[in-house]
Amino acid sequence: MNKNIIKKLQDIVGAKYLATAREDLMCYSYDGTGQEYMPSAVAFPGSAAEISSIMKLANQELFPVIPRGAGTGMTGGSLPVAGGLVLVMSRLNRILEIDAENQVAEVEPGVITGQFQSAVRKQGLFYPPDPASHNFCTMGGNVAECSGGPSAVKYGVTRDYILGLEVVLPDGKLLHTGVRTAKGVVGYDLTRLITGSEGTLGIITKITVRLLALPTHKKTYLVLCDSIRLAAVLVAEILKSGILPNTLEYMDQTALHVVNDYLPLELPHNTGGLLLVEVDGNERSTEEQGEKLLKLLADRQAYPGILEVRQANNDKEVKDLWKARRSISPATFKLRPHKISEDVVVPKTKIPRLVDFTEKLSRELGMIILTFGHAGDGNIHVNIMLDKNDPEENRKGETAKRRLFEYVMSLSGTLSGEHGIGITKAPFLGLELDEASLKLMRNIKKVFDPNNILNPGKIFAEHNDSAAKTLKTASSP
Ligand code: MLT
Ligand code: ZN
Repeated sequence: MNKNIIKKLQDIVGAKYLATAREDLMCYSYDGTGQEYMPSAVAFPGSAAEISSIMKLANQELFPVIPRGAGTGMTGGSLPVAGGLVLVMSRLNRILEIDAENQVAEVEPGVITGQFQSAVRKQGLFYPPDPASHNFCTMGGNVAECSGGPSAVKYGVTRDYILGLEVVLPDGKLLHTGVRTAKGVVGYDLTRLITGSEGTLGIITKITVRLLALPTHKKTYLVLCDSIRLAAVLVAEILKSGILPNTLEYMDQTALHVVNDYLPLELPHNTGGLLLVEVDGNERSTEEQGEKLLKLLADRQAYPGILEVRQANNDKEVKDLWKARRSISPATFKLRPHKISEDVVVPKTKIPRLVDFTEKLSRELGMIILTFGHAGDGNIHVNIMLDKNDPEENRKGETAKRRLFEYVMSLSGTLSGEHGIGITKAPFLGLELDEASLKLMRNIKKVFDPNNILNPGKIFAEHNDSAAKTLKTASSP
């Protein structure tokens, strides 16, 4: 990026809000993937108007612009893979309005999700999307990735709460999408198109969300199983029984091992898997669901492998359980220095097959492959642990990932339930999408961003389609 452009950027955001020193750029060169790409500059814009001016300049000078929230993404969505300017959205961090009567709020993209949840909770309201990183990640990042989380099994994902957006388009124009009402079907649904578009179609500058009334009661349970397979089988059984928990999470033995210190109980030595189940609602419905759950799990003739069912006794135990759950992902680095972190989804009844497959793959390749996650919606985090500096482990890791994706496709699953495609899954996109969809999506990107300056290199890898064809052949059942 030449001095002239740097000067113009300084004029737009103010010299204080533009970083070019190597040590500053390094802070914005990585994300949750552990991969690193250095930007040429980093800007901290203070308004949509400044972002608009930046985009106009980027279109004249043809440099890439990469929007970034808190950098917690797992697929490289905020990485400057082609260099350019990283736009850090942290200054746009105001909760603009909480309209309790209409159950609607408006926020800027840099608001931390957990802080927004606390703010609405104080007014008896509830914003359910709760990515594991909710204490650090931002609302803008959540919208860009359409993040999920443990509560998705009952409450859905980010897109289910986004009513409208203010977006700076790649050419600098300001776009307002959606409604502030409970319903709205005027024209194409641009709000949904932009939600989950991974920062490739526009830069989100305001978000209108819908809110729910806060559930007044909840009960939290742990189900210890002698095998991971049983834990996986129980997921579909619980849902089939008519219980709709707000959390139905699962952890395999390795995941349990890495967060053991946080768990408020001694695990029996033969614990092979665990379910974390939470039900919420008003006092009566919570009581009823809890009883139904305990009754189902008490049937030891049907499920002899259930070792123990425990209810969290107090707030501290609930807190510890959630701490354990939310710490799994970072804690896995105890095992190996790097990981390939996946978020595949399969139909719920096929979770046992997926779990068997990953265990077999782990044995066959001699690698640690652990599984945990949002089993209630079939969204399983498969973490392939490795040392990326070891070429042999790298090769085996890539083999494991490819075989996992092929297997998931054969189970009628999807490659990503919440982390998006970014760069890490881009070569596999065609494994799931047909030619017509791929072409239409590429054309949509071109309509929004003809010069390909906004977050280039994401979702659509250049070699996608040919790589996908090879995979498609290989994965045919
Ligand atoms: C989680 O559910 O813990 C997150 O999505 C993080 C991860 O998959 O590693
Ligand atoms: Zn997750």
